[in-house]
Amino acid sequence: MSSAKYEHGGNGPERVNLMTNEQKTMNRTASKRKISIVVGVIVALLVVAAVVGFLLWLFLERSKELENKFKFQQNGPSTLVYSGHIKLLKPEYSPAYENPESPEFQQVAKDLEGIMNETFTRDPFLSKYYTKSVITAFSEGVAYHWTQFDIPLEDQELLPEMTEERVVEALRRNIRQEGRLVGNVAVTATDITASSSDPRMAREPRSKQCFYSLAAEPTVKEFTSPGHPNRYPAHSRCQWQIRAPKGYAILVKFKTFHVEDDCANDYVAIYNSLIPDSSQAITKQCGLRPPTNPLEVVSSGNIMLINLITDEVRRTGFKATYTAIPTITAESCGVHLTTPTGNFISPHFPSFYPPLVDCSWHINVPFGKKIKVEFTMFRVKEPDVDVGNCHKDYIQVLGRKFCGEKRRLVLSSQTNSLEVKFHSDESYTDKGFRAAYTAYDPVNPCPGQFACTSGYCIKKELHCDGWNDCEDMSDEKNCQCEDDQFVCKNGLCRPPYSVCDRRDDCGDNSDEQDCDCGKAYGRCEDGACIPQDVICDGRKDCADGSDEVSCKESVGVCTDYSFKCKNKDCVNKVNAECDRENDCSDGSDEQGCDCGIRPYKHNRIVGGQNADLGEWPWQVSLHFKTDGHVCGASIISNKWLLSAAHCFIQPDTDYKIKSNWMTYSGLRDQKIQDNTVQQRTLKTIITHPNYEPMSYDYDISLLELSQPLNFTNTVRPICLPAPSHLFAAGTSCFVTGWGTLREGGTVAQILQKAEVKVINDTVCNIVTEGQVTSRMMCSGYLSGGVDACQGDSGGPLVCTSDVGKWFQAGIVSWGEGCARRNKPGVYTRVTKLRDWIRGITSV
Ligand code: ARG
Repeated sequence: MSSAKYEHGGNGPERVNLMTNEQKTMNRTASKRKISIVVGVIVALLVVAAVVGFLLWLFLERSKELENKFKFQQNGPSTLVYSGHIKLLKPEYSPAYENPESPEFQQVAKDLEGIMNETFTRDPFLSKYYTKSVITAFSEGVAYHWTQFDIPLEDQELLPEMTEERVVEALRRNIRQEGRLVGNVAVTATDITASSSDPRMAREPRSKQCFYSLAAEPTVKEFTSPGHPNRYPAHSRCQWQIRAPKGYAILVKFKTFHVEDDCANDYVAIYNSLIPDSSQAITKQCGLRPPTNPLEVVSSGNIMLINLITDEVRRTGFKATYTAIPTITAESCGVHLTTPTGNFISPHFPSFYPPLVDCSWHINVPFGKKIKVEFTMFRVKEPDVDVGNCHKDYIQVLGRKFCGEKRRLVLSSQTNSLEVKFHSDESYTDKGFRAAYTAYDPVNPCPGQFACTSGYCIKKELHCDGWNDCEDMSDEKNCQCEDDQFVCKNGLCRPPYSVCDRRDDCGDNSDEQDCDCGKAYGRCEDGACIPQDVICDGRKDCADGSDEVSCKESVGVCTDYSFKCKNKDCVNKVNAECDRENDCSDGSDEQGCDCGIRPYKHNRIVGGQNADLGEWPWQVSLHFKTDGHVCGASIISNKWLLSAAHCFIQPDTDYKIKSNWMTYSGLRDQKIQDNTVQQRTLKTIITHPNYEPMSYDYDISLLELSQPLNFTNTVRPICLPAPSHLFAAGTSCFVTGWGTLREGGTVAQILQKAEVKVINDTVCNIVTEGQVTSRMMCSGYLSGGVDACQGDSGGPLVCTSDVGKWFQAGIVSWGEGCARRNKPGVYTRVTKLRDWIRGITSV
């Protein structure tokens, strides 16, 4: 795998324009006046239609929203639970309050419940539905509570009026007077919270059912979900309350984690509180996590609550450790950095950073220099946050806030000092960031290289080459375009095939103007114009066949693009196989679909190229003699692997001898071959009879294993696409392998992944100078930078379908160098050889 540090510029579907001259010969002599009256009427009608449409949409959206909000309470009375805390001024903290069995706890709880009860029974609206208030815990002068309301069926329409604000408001109103004494407690009027929470998490303080109270200490201790390593019981409602000594925070690391992958009914929710108060949630997770991507969270103070909620489907749950660690303070978070280069990370990186921290790094370099900060990992993401304003957690530099997930972020100072601030609010945290800074000379910021406005340095050759390498276009401004380039209105130079490809390559859309095909003409996916009446006529008229892919009306018509059912019926629908819809009357389109699934849940770590364990469970490493890894392959069944022919057909005939090969499935790190790795020898090597060593045509082979594989979380088959499967130009796919990290480099130790895009066939043919056959396809970026490379051969190019299933589109075959500009990777086109594969393997 080869990937340059910079991100490709104009990515996305890359197409060639095959414009007709139709529009140019249009008759323009009709009376202008007549036209303007007709146009006026049409415009008026359109405006009315648009307004009506908008109002209808608004109404539908609004009702959908409300429906979602109350989904879990349909059909029957609704139970709403609000959880939160109340700060107490009295009584003073005593360890006895931590034990719900103690008379002290019971007395204070009773007094507080009394106040809450009085609050809600006095409220004219809330009293109608109020059921009860419960105090579940205390910690350092804070009481944790929840309140239940039950709304009968006939009052369901009042649900939208039951808001968090209303509940909090009622409490605050009743406790108006600061320090008001009730029994032996004095409460604050201000520090009161309540937020709506899942009623399944509400529990009585003395209920012992699946409840655990843990005391965190500086030594590492362990806890597990019930029954672990066996499955947890159905309908689990478990709670772990963790407390640490004063001045400490709590670090919890999940060593194993498996909860059903359905976060609405099954999840682990973690709170920076002793109550499931959603405004204090740290994170909510479900699914199966690979050991290479463990969940590790930190509280801000000395309390934490973990909840496990499940339905009837049982999984193994988790094993976790918990430890008391010193809390992050302003002094411990962020420092003065005075060396000319250095690094800094978010608190506890790569564990989640804690809620409620503020850090600040002051960087100072010698006078006359400036500072450049590069974030090599950046994940500061919260649900429902607009990355345009970052109102929750953020990084702040020179007055600008940054949040979300970023592949690359480079920031420069204006002077020799720079302050980087980090803020996390009370809820939801993330992995955070890793940053490196360097001092540079403003006169020559990038010695021997081109300096982007952002401070990023790129190779000199990339300046004025028509590609946005700086990402801020600063390398492509004020350039002299070459003869064959398209000159954008804004002065940028673009390759000729950017014109009329339906993408704004110029940035001002000037490459997409004057691209209309004319009335009687339709447009292919690749931008070409074709007559309307040839669309869906059962013949391929667009070079990419896009005129025949979605032709529902042509039932019974069988083209190359129809899915063929076992009973010979044809389905004219894009990628009908394994889409969870029955399209064939014999159900054959939904058979053999137990493939292309990854059991582990994977974070999309942007930037990083190392694959996670189990992220590509169909990837196989082929070792030759004592040379170690030389080629890749993919699992298509428990007995068969798919690879390239050229891995076996070489001048040295030893490559054809099956006993010279060893296959490794479930492997990630070439140096770690533990018991999750399945090693198999080969029983047969079948290369395609038409394979052409000169042209790499028919570069495909099938390998039969001597012993079948056992499918596990890390060893599973990929789906093979039907011959009619369409991988449209511009589709994002992934290529994986242990190939060299750059042209002429050494092979990788850890499995690499790279996101590449399917390239239009016409463009593919142009850039390879006519060397591709119909058994080949291009994928990558014309801008270069990301590609497969030596040693990736035989490995899979895979793409996800609409329902999240992975299909193998290609087999790594060849390329001119690696990751070079205008030289994308060339892959064996699996759809073209699908029938050959079935003929031999019956897969
Ligand atoms: N033939 C190479 C191999 O044996 C694969 C080359 C793929 N190159 C590329 N630029 N995509 O590993």
